[in-house]
Amino acid sequence: MLVRRAYIPEHLRPHQGDEWPFSVPCVAELVDHGLTFTRPITFLVGENGSGKSTLVEAFAEAYGVDARGGRAGRKYVNDRPKTPLGEVVRLESTGEGARVRGGSRRKQKGYFLRAETAFGFMEAVSGMYGYWDENTAEMSHGEGFLTVFSEMFREPGLYLMDEPEAALSFTSCLRLVGLMQRLGESGAQVVCATHSPILAATPGAEIVEIGEHGFRTTSWEKLDLVDHWRRYLNDPNVYLRHVTES
Ligand SMILES: Nc1ncnc2c1ncn2[C@@H]1O[C@H](COP(=O)(O)OP(=O)(O)OP(=O)(O)O)[C@@H](O)[C@H]1O
Ligand SMILES: [Mg+2]
Repeated sequence: MLVRRAYIPEHLRPHQGDEWPFSVPCVAELVDHGLTFTRPITFLVGENGSGKSTLVEAFAEAYGVDARGGRAGRKYVNDRPKTPLGEVVRLESTGEGARVRGGSRRKQKGYFLRAETAFGFMEAVSGMYGYWDENTAEMSHGEGFLTVFSEMFREPGLYLMDEPEAALSFTSCLRLVGLMQRLGESGAQVVCATHSPILAATPGAEIVEIGEHGFRTTSWEKLDLVDHWRRYLNDPNVYLRHVTES
């Protein structure tokens, strides 16, 4: 593991928490208590708008990875201001993390992959040294993603992901689970926002549920997301009768 905790130092805390993003409950909790990472893989799970992307993006900025998606130590988009949370959040390194971070800027390994912008990012960097050799423009969306994942996931670093499942089939999600687990075992760290019950089931991962309460650690079995999927797959009509006319 590389990062032990995300927190906002006393002198950088907002005086009034009523402006975005400090009005979002999970951000307010981050300000008050910080977020401790206990496992190499952490999933952030919660409803639309609960604040997952806000957190992941800010962590990426705090680590020095461009929030549009990219690699640490390499400026992908220049002169883009940080998000308000990215400006103030700090990541507390583990001993190993400090060693890795102590190296040259070029050696700092950190990646941020967000579904919304990753495809453009893949095109922009394909062929650049240190990224991947295969031409992802000639692949399907999902194939390109898996290629990027498996190429990227070769070295220890901090991997921040925002709904990487968006382009992936069931089978591809399973492959991603395998890739992530190996990554965690190799000394890297993953923080991943997801709506996928497949990804959230990655063995050994910590699940942080985000919502009106702020955030709390939970188990896969207790996730609302899992419960809803289970019941929907068992009988879609239980849900559909509430949203369709007939
Ligand atoms: N730039 C912004 N300015 C103001 N409010 C914002 C901004 N970006 C996001 N928000 C708000 O902050 C809250 C958290 O948004 P965020 O994108 O982090 O949610 P999320 O958990 O990632 O949701 P989803 O599952 O839909 O991706 C939402 O209420 C959203 O409307
Ligand atoms: Mg989001």
